[in-house]
Amino acid sequence: MRISQQIWPRSVVLVCSVDEDGKANVMTASFVMPVSFNPKYIAVSISPKRHTFSNLQKVREMTINVCDVNMKKAADICGTYSGKNVDKFELANLTEEKSRKIRVPCIKEAPISFECVVEGMHEYGDHFIVVGRVVEEHVRKAEFEPLLHGSGDDYFTARKID
Ligand SMILES: Cc1cc2nc3c(=O)[nH]c(=O)nc-3n(C[C@H](O)[C@H](O)[C@H](O)COP(=O)(O)O)c2cc1C
Repeated sequence: MRISQQIWPRSVVLVCSVDEDGKANVMTASFVMPVSFNPKYIAVSISPKRHTFSNLQKVREMTINVCDVNMKKAADICGTYSGKNVDKFELANLTEEKSRKIRVPCIKEAPISFECVVEGMHEYGDHFIVVGRVVEEHVRKAEFEPLLHGSGDDYFTARKID
């Protein structure tokens, strides 16, 4: 069994990055976790095969944009195509929004975006844990239906239980 079928569901985020010329890219990730309350740190596990990974090696900044259920189609597109070949902002109909503290843009459609400075990239197996310190956050919607991922094409949302 794949680990993604064993530990689920996981929040879906869109990770934005830029290359040395400032060209932005966006990829979907669900291997993501909060690390620290204060200061806020977020970790995301990224394969070295991703265009996002080579961007992060060059420019150590990223935005983590939390997806709600309305962003399923965009998450699918940004998790299928590579920024090596296409402009996924255009393809997935996502709007870049200028960040306040870093060069990497946020995504306007996301209920919550975090501007992060990458402080560590550590290899474990076939992925790298990329750890970002949150330097700014944007809360556009405090209450939303989160987009959650299982494995492959399986998406979910959450409900509160007693
Ligand atoms: C729902 C979903 C979750 C994903 N989670 C991850 C992840 O956590 N880490 C990762 O490296 N790739 C993940 N992927 C795969 C990348 O998003 C995909 O390979 C993407 O095309 C990489 O884009 P890039 O080459 O432009 O960086 C996921 C894909 C989907 C659809």
